[in-house]
Amino acid sequence: MCSTINKILHSYCSDNSSINKRDVENCLLDIIGKTKTFLITTPEYEISKHEMKRFNRSIKLLKDGVPLAYIIGNQDFYGYNYLVDSKVLIPRAETEIIIPEVLKQGDLLFEKNKKLKLVDAGTGSGCIGLTIARERPNWDIVLIDNSFESIKTLNKNYNKKIHSNCTIVVSNWLKGLKKNIADIIISNPPYIEYKSKYLDENVFKYEPHYALFANDKGLRDIKILISQSKSILKKEGILFIENGFDQSREIVKLLKKNYYEDIDIILDYNGINRFTVSRNS
Ligand SMILES: C[S@@+](CC[C@H](N)C(=O)[O-])C[C@H]1O[C@@H](n2cnc3c(N)ncnc32)[C@H](O)[C@@H]1O
Repeated sequence: MCSTINKILHSYCSDNSSINKRDVENCLLDIIGKTKTFLITTPEYEISKHEMKRFNRSIKLLKDGVPLAYIIGNQDFYGYNYLVDSKVLIPRAETEIIIPEVLKQGDLLFEKNKKLKLVDAGTGSGCIGLTIARERPNWDIVLIDNSFESIKTLNKNYNKKIHSNCTIVVSNWLKGLKKNIADIIISNPPYIEYKSKYLDENVFKYEPHYALFANDKGLRDIKILISQSKSILKKEGILFIENGFDQSREIVKLLKKNYYEDIDIILDYNGINRFTVSRNS
């Protein structure tokens, strides 16, 4: 039997429903291929039997806790849309906050040197590196990951024409790079401590563990990046590292020990220490 979008949303979006109303709406919009405005202006639109079947399948996944982005297969990031699947981390709003700062700092370096190389280490879906590549087509962007599965997803987001300033490198962090080549290194590495009590149950259940967890209280990969970046960054090159809410103090210590300068901490929308920025000396 067919039904109108109005009736469907009403039945799934009751106050006692265990699933998020906006997620239900987005699933429906994805299936019927319409915009939010259509939903408001055409509540009597009838969805087909086939669409209803797909919708019911999506609702079941939502009820099981599968993140919306994995169900609809994409996620917005800084105004661009990226394909995602269970092999890559879902791009986060707290990561997005660093983009304007990277662009600002990079513009200053570009003005001085008339060229710029930026490395996105642990690129996953490519959300950071590909976004910067779109925003600054004159910069050289290197996208690195060591997971062949992630690189497969990255390749779906990579468009030869649009991202002609990008190179994809499979590497264990910065090992595959030449010394002294980067003006900027940015990374959102795995930084969650194994068995962290703060991690959302569904993130643990559905997102790839190689993108989430690191040994040494979550600091293992950050330590490697700080150490390797020293020789890959040019003098005065900048390192941007995303980190957990309680890791800044330790990271600042490490940066100082490795003679990085101009150390700065950037907060996310919730006022949490989210990025540590520093300059190679
Ligand atoms: C937290 S995810 C970040 C993904 C994406 N940059 C983002 O911000 O959404 C970390 C990424 O680092 C990659 N990674 C983990 N260990 C790595 C290593 N040794 N070398 C290179 N990449 C690694 C993972 O495959 C994953 O894609």
